Order: sequence, then structure tokens, then C-alpha cells
Amino acid sequence: MSRLVVLISGTGRNLQAILEAQRAGHIHGEVSAVISNNPDAAGLAHARSAGVATAVVDHRNYPDRGSFESALAAEIDRYTPDFVALAGFMRILGSEFVKRYRGRLLNIHPSLLPKHPGLQTHARALAEGEAWHGASVHFVTESVDGGPVILQGRVPVHSNETPDALAERVMHEVEQVIYPEVLAWASSGRLQMREDQVILDDRVLLEPIQLQALQLEKKHG
Ligand code: GRF
Repeated sequence: MSRLVVLISGTGRNLQAILEAQRAGHIHGEVSAVISNNPDAAGLAHARSAGVATAVVDHRNYPDRGSFESALAAEIDRYTPDFVALAGFMRILGSEFVKRYRGRLLNIHPSLLPKHPGLQTHARALAEGEAWHGASVHFVTESVDGGPVILQGRVPVHSNETPDALAERVMHEVEQVIYPEVLAWASSGRLQMREDQVILDDRVLLEPIQLQALQLEKKHG
């Protein structure tokens, strides 16, 4: 049975979707632990009420990034996970950490990567007059928000909406759907990363899968 550790910093809406997918048997494995760098992260309570082990590794208690990341890795490794999922984990991770979990480390980013890496993605998509915005799940490599994208989903941008309203639609219509989906693939052994390329069902993925295409495929068999 595959084992997953989820790292969070905040609200944990992605975490909630992951826990629900696991409860529904969609993710063939267990969420072994939820670890936060922020002791006040609301997501910790969701994990506890789902009976999942939690831990806090507060970056403010460490003199530098290296020592924080060693402590974080030690905590993660207690659970010997097959995959580590960053779900709203708001610390940039150094190359040593990334190397240690290479091919097992996944992230969700609220944009249609390679567009809009970094922060404030919803406001930027609106300011730039994008017709579409969305979210992407990708393997983490040394380049921030730059690892190979596995699955992404899009929503149309309404020109008069606020960044918060757009963020809300991206969260509900895309993020909470694509992360559980990718983790279902990972947990059933269908997903790997080799030479910085995504391998799904033993085939190199030449471009990210689009959620809409996947939903159509599911509907029509
Ligand atoms: C999500 O939009 C995620 O993509 C981004 O931070 C947000 C976290 O939300 N990296 P939550 O903690 O999952 O509610």
C-alpha cells in the first residue's frame, strides 16, 4: 500500500480534497502524515479530525534553511513515504531537499504553468488580460515551479472579477480535482519521473494532460 506525506502551510483545502479521495478509495494508499511549517495552519485540524498523524516543523525555530530542511526531512522520513505532496506549502525548498525526494515530490501551483510561476498568480492573470487561468500539478525539480507538469485544468477568466473570486473558482473547479487525480495515479504505480520527464503508464508524457480532455475521456469511455 502506498504511503503519502502531505506538507501544508495554511488552509488545507487541497489536503481536504486529498483526504476525501483517500477515504473514497480513489487514492490507493494512506495519508501517513500531514506536516506543517506553520503551527497555526488550519489544515492541521482537518488532518487530526481525519485521524491522520500531524507534526509541526516551524521554520522560525531554525537558524537557516539548511537546518530547517534537515529537520523537515527527518520528520518526513519517519513515515517512509512513497510520495511527498506539497499542498499550499509556502516555503521554497533548497536543492539538497529536492534531490533527496526527486521523483517522489509533487506540487500544485495555481496557474497554467509555465505561465505565472511564483506568487499572486490570480491577480497577474487578471492584470495581463488572460482569457484562461487554472492550476497545474507537477513534479518538483530544482527550478521553482519549473518541474515537469503532469495535469492541469483551466477556467475562463471573467474580466470584471476579483483575484479572490478567480482563486476560489480555480480552487474548487480545478485544484481540488487535479491533485487527488494525480495522487491516485501515483498511488497505483502509474506515475514516475525519469530524466525530468513525466512517465504515465510507461509512456513519456510529451505535454501536460488537460483536465477537460480527461473528463471527456471518462465520460465517453
Ligand atoms: C493553493 O492555491 C495552492 O495551489 C497554493 O496555495 C494555495 C493553498 O491552499 N500553492 P490550501 O492550503 O490547499 O487551501
